[in-house]
Order: sequence, then C-alpha cells, then structure tokens
Amino acid sequence: MGGASLERHGAIGVITIDNPPVNAMSVGVPGAILSRLEEAGADDAIEAIVLRGGGRGALAGADIAMFGKPWPEDEPTLRHVIPAIERSTKPVIAALAGYCLGGGLEMALSCHYRVASRETGVGQPEVLLGFPPGAGGTQRLPRIANVSTALAMIVDGTRVPAEKAAEHGILDRVIEGDLLQGAVAFAEERAAGGPPHPLARDRTPVLDDPGIFEATRERLARRARGQRAPLACLECVEMALSLPFDEGIRREREVFEACMASAESKALRHVFFAERQARRVPGIGKETPARPVERAAIVGAGTMGTGIATCFANAGIPVRLTDSDGGALERALAAIRSGYESRVARGRIGTADAEARMALIEPVETMEGVAGADLVIEAVFEEMPLKEEVFRTLDAACDEGAIIASNTSYLDVNHLADTVPRRRDAGCVLGMHFFSPAQVMRLLEVVRTDSASPETLATVLALAQRLGKLAVVAGVCHGFIGNRMLEGYTRQVRFLLEEGASPVDVDAAMTGFGMAMGPCAVADLAGLDVSWRKRKADAHLRDPSKRYSAVADRLCERGRFGQKTGAGYYRYEPGSRTPIPDPEVDALIAEVAAESGIARRSIGADEIVERLLYPLVNEGARLLDEGIALRASDVDLVWINGYGFPRWRGGVMHWADGVGLAAIHETVARLDESEDYWEPAPLLNRLAADGKGFADLDRAARGG
Ligand code: 3HC
Ligand code: NAI
Repeated sequence: MGGASLERHGAIGVITIDNPPVNAMSVGVPGAILSRLEEAGADDAIEAIVLRGGGRGALAGADIAMFGKPWPEDEPTLRHVIPAIERSTKPVIAALAGYCLGGGLEMALSCHYRVASRETGVGQPEVLLGFPPGAGGTQRLPRIANVSTALAMIVDGTRVPAEKAAEHGILDRVIEGDLLQGAVAFAEERAAGGPPHPLARDRTPVLDDPGIFEATRERLARRARGQRAPLACLECVEMALSLPFDEGIRREREVFEACMASAESKALRHVFFAERQARRVPGIGKETPARPVERAAIVGAGTMGTGIATCFANAGIPVRLTDSDGGALERALAAIRSGYESRVARGRIGTADAEARMALIEPVETMEGVAGADLVIEAVFEEMPLKEEVFRTLDAACDEGAIIASNTSYLDVNHLADTVPRRRDAGCVLGMHFFSPAQVMRLLEVVRTDSASPETLATVLALAQRLGKLAVVAGVCHGFIGNRMLEGYTRQVRFLLEEGASPVDVDAAMTGFGMAMGPCAVADLAGLDVSWRKRKADAHLRDPSKRYSAVADRLCERGRFGQKTGAGYYRYEPGSRTPIPDPEVDALIAEVAAESGIARRSIGADEIVERLLYPLVNEGARLLDEGIALRASDVDLVWINGYGFPRWRGGVMHWADGVGLAAIHETVARLDESEDYWEPAPLLNRLAADGKGFADLDRAARGG
C-alpha cells in the first residue's frame, strides 16, 4: 500500500508521496498525506511545506482502477486532503516533476504555490476517461489560469508543458537543476515573505474571451457528437463564473459522479487499461532484449511507403526509401516535403525542424541501397510473387540480423518468411501493418509469424512506441485482425444497399452511432478500384452458392472509383471532398437489386447498425478462438485506432458486452436462417449460453 513520508530540510518540511509507479491516490495514500500534513503543521520547526511525488515525481491523480469500486468507508480521499492543504497556516508548495495530472493537479491547485521542473506536463485529462475533474479542478483552474486556457485544458484534456503553464500562471516557477533543492529554496523565500499566501478559491475567474463558451459549445457539437463528458466539462467551468466557489465545488462533484457512472466513462476507462494491456505479449518480458533500430529502410515509395518513411523521420530515425519506379520515388519525396511545408505553414513545426526531418530521409535507387539498415519494411504492391521476389533480394542485400517486415494488408507472412529461410530461422521476419495515412493513424498491427523471435518482436514493439504508434499483436491469417473483420462489415453494406438503404442512409446510421466516417464515404476515400481488383483476382475462390452483391463492381465498371475519379458511392465537385448523393447510384443499385430479385424496403438506422456491427462481433469471436487476437480488448483497440470506431463506446467487443452477447447471438442465429455468412462463431455460442461477455474471457486470461 502506498504512503507518504515527511523529512525536514532546515525549516522546510518535505512530504513525499510514495505510491509507484505514478503516485496515484490509491486507498491509503490520501490518509498518509493527511497525517504528514498534520505532523508538519504541528512541528514548530517547520515554516513551510513542500509536497511532491516520489520516484520519478509523477502525480497521476485518482486511482483509475478504483472507479466503480467501493472505497473503504473510513479511508480519507483526495477530497479530504485538499481542504486540509487550504486550512494550513504554513504555505504549501507543490513541487512537480514528470506528469501532474487529474487529481494530482487538483491537489497542486489547492496548494498556495506550484513549482515544477522544465520537462513536467500538467493537465486535467479526466474528460478522456468520460468525466470532468471531480476534486475542484473545474473551479480552481479558471481562477488561476484565465478562463479560455482552463476551458481548453479541461474540455480537451490536453497536457501543457511547464513553460507554458508558467506563462498561464499555473506554475509560479520553473526550476532549473535539482527540483527538490529549487522547491526548498522557493519555500524558504515564501515563508520569509510571510502571509498572506494566496489560495485559488479566493480569486475571481478572469473571462478573457466572452465568446469562448459559445464557440466551444459549437466546436463540441461537431467534434464530440454523442458524448456527454466534454459538454459536462464546459458546464462545470461555466459554473466557476456563475456560482460561489463552494457551491461550484458541490455541483462539480454531482456532475462528476453522474458522468462516472455512465456507459461512456466505463468504455473510456476500459480503453485506458486496454492500451496498457496490449503491451503484454506472451513470451515477451522486461528481460527480453530489444535491439536498437538506428537505421531503417522502406521498399516501395507509394501511398504507404511515403507515410511510413515520414513516421521514421518524425521519430528522428534515419530512413532510406527506394522504389523500382524512379518517378514514384520523386513523387514520394515531393509529397513528404509538401506535408512538412504545410505543417510549418500551420505553425505545427519550425522550418529547421522540418528540414532536419527531411534530411533523415535518403532516397536510394536500388534495393541493394538498404544495406546497413537494422529494419526494412516492404511496402510494394499487394501481390505475393512480387513480395516473394522483393524478400529474396532484401535477404541478400541486408545485414545478418536485420529484421525484414512486410506491410501487407492480407497476405500470408509465414509464407513470406519461408521464402527467406535463413532469415526466418534467425527469427527476423514479421508483419508491420500500418494504416493509411501512416503518419497519422495510430494503429500498428504487429503480425507475429510462427518463426519471429521474442527479440524481434520486442524490438518492433519498442520501435512502435518510439514511432508513437499503438502496437497490437496479431497472428497470421488472411487480413489479420482488422481487415479480416472488415470483410463482413463491407459485405453487409452492399447487401443493405440492395435491400433498400441508400448510401446516405447507411453512412448516416453509422456516423450517428459514432463511427468517424460512414462506410460508403470511406470506400470513396480509399478508392473502390483496390478492392475491385482483389475481388476479380479472387473470383475463382468465391462460393457460387453464396449471396454476392455486384453493387461495388458495377460502380467500378462505370469508372466510379471514388474521390479520385470524382464519383463513387457519391459524386464530388472538382477539388471537393464533400460527398453529394447521386441519383445515378440509386438507379444502379435498384437495377442490381432487380436483377437479383430482391424486393426493396425501407431500412431503419438500428437495423443498419446491427447488420454492420454484429458481423464484426462474430468474426472478432472467431479471431479470439483461433488465437489470432490475444484478447478482446486488443480487437477493441484495432477498431478504435484503425477504423474509426468511437473510442467512447469502448471498441466493438466492449460495446457488444454492453448490448449483451445473448441478444446478439439471438439476432445472428436468426439471420443465419435466411442469409449466408451469419453462422454464429463457436465462442459466441459458448459465451451466450453461459451468460458471459468478452470481458469475462479477458479477465479469466489475466487470471483475475
Ligand atoms: N490510476 C491507476 N493506475 C494508473 C494511473 C492512475 N491514475 N495512471 C497510470 N496508472 C498505471 C498504468 O495503468 C500502468 O500500470 P501497468 O504498468 O500495470 O500497466 C502504470 O501506472 C504506468 O502507466 P503508463 O504505462 O501509462 O506509464 P507512462 O509513463 O507511459 O504514462 C501517465 C504515465 C502519463 C501518468 C499515464 O499513465 C496516464 O496518463 N495516466 C492517467 C492520468 C489520468 O488520467 N489521471 C486522471 C485520473 S482521474 C482523476 O484524477 C479524477 C479526479 O478528478 C478526482
Ligand atoms: P502503392 O501502389 O501506392 O505503392 C506501391 C509502390 O511499390 C509503388 O510505388 C511501386 O512502384 C513500388 N514497387 C512495386 N514493385 C517494386 C519493386 N520490385 N521494388 C521497389 N518498389 C516497387 O501501394 P500502397 O497502397 O502503398 O500499398 C503498399 C502495400 O501496403 C500493399 O501491400 C498494401 O496492401 C499495403 N497497405 C496498403 C494500405 C492502403 O491503405 N493503401 C494500408 C495498409 C497496407
């Protein structure tokens, strides 16, 4: 159990919170802080108190694992600590290092002064967990920083670096050098200066921009559709201006508790722990050595190669880029440069930074030029014979021990490993499936081949973190986790269109559910021709007895490849990305439906959502049974970070648990009677029969 200690540094009492790794306010910690505050208060030799986190110094706030669980009745909470700090007749100085977040910042805001080391970030990230700050953050922060700064921090949950926080008055001093020494010196100064020592609660919020609430409301109406917490944050900050301080604190707590109990918060907390869980991979431990990746190379400078090279440059890793088509290589470099120029123009990065990143990307004319790289990623056309040839050439060109990865979307990476037996036997081949645009999308599916060594996997997982990616490990199968699930989803889109829904109906139902984009708009963006080519190539594999919709094929036959040709499921004005419904498409769909003898009807949003999401749940269950996905929460992360599934719904498997697997099973089994592709997965059968959910499965696997 965590605690807190008190040490004397001359006339300064230093309270150090000790609850590794991030000093969360777990049971026992607030009580320990209170006791140390009392001791320091009663010690006549102490004139001022420094309060800080132990270890690396982080103060991560409330213990997230405790939310929704009973707190022992006689155990103090953070909300007992805060008034005790404010009652202290001796000035209390928060000394911050690393991170000071959530309840950690709320505690610091209740102190008389705050100092921090330069690398510290402060923030109120509660909104990202589905609730507003619940220990006074919404009332104190707008009294310390100006209202628009506080509002942005609380509504968006963004972290502010120390220097900026000092500019906004959140910090009284940024300490260079040793934090403890600096904090003690600061405390001595303030103690010598004598009272009064300022408290946030006594200040009046400064409304620096009278239009800020309305503007933020409008922004949230667009950006936070379907969510409660961001608006709840805004309402709480508004109360800092309209209510007396103590009344504001009381109301904030009510809103906090209501939000905490919501499905939205449960989902977001699930995602928080899912992200940390995903790093746990069987066979890979802290002791597994990860090799340094000091130089990388990419083969294929198309859409993906261009984005992946940018990821490396952004992470400061030198990367060589090659393509058999010199024109493609030139276009890639021009695209990367123009991407950086536009970021400079928008003030996101400085010119020197852009130049430095650009300089990390070295074009090379042949594949032999990749020699010396610690890791090479192949991103050539999605054709197995071509990839085999590229792998063989790379095997010969690369240093011994270099990792060769494929960015394939679907192909058998075990087979690719077999084409380079020496490297396979060294455990150096696996899949690294980035998502488009690679420099933007956070997901990286790491495809674990049968031969990949723990060291190779650990190297790629560590690299993913450096690249700022969320890595999810998947086994080898057609399409891995995400794309394999996607097939059922897009198939149902075409069926629903034939049965009477329009592209607008389908997209509106799914964006109404919370998907970032509707599936028809996504198809137009990605290009309909890509999957068309694949369907044609795989036509001989299709079971002719099963239902097949020709809607997408027909669009392609008319040259409607999506945005790139100005027409797909929608039409587009030149230079615009806004989808416009097109009667030609409605007629084409009606024609295809008539040919298949399908009677069209009006289809409601609820049915659309079920028909598109239940196949995902069913396929997700199969992936779990087959061990392709390690846990249901990994499937959630894939769909949230790679396919625009709403984070605040916790991912598709978490959402399914909320609906109830018995209910989903019933619908899937009913649809199975009349339509192909609905056979319930064995795991769905079992869980539904046992009255269990995917979360039970994950919990059991964790041994808890
Ligand atoms: N409660 C419980 N556990 C926490 C935690 C918290 N607030 N913050 C982090 N942890 C755990 C993680 O789950 C992880 O556990 P694991 O090793 O068993 O997987 C461990 O601490 C280390 O965390 P990370 O792996 O995330 O470490 P990083 O160094 O990458 O990041 C961090 C550190 C920036 C502090 C990050 O953990 C983080 O963002 N934490 C959450 C901060 C937050 O949201 N605070 C608000 C809490 S709600 C609140 O305070 C309510 C208040 O208003 C009343
Ligand atoms: P692309 O068509 O944009 O680029 C492929 C590039 O490979 C072309 O520039 C081509 O000239 C080059 N190339 C072909 N043969 C080569 C060879 N022998 N040596 C060197 N270069 C060669 O393709 P895209 O979209 O970038 O896809 C690449 C790979 O990434 C494919 O396997 C694809 O399935 C996968 N992928 C694609 C995604 C997407 O959204 N486009 C998403 C995730 C993965």
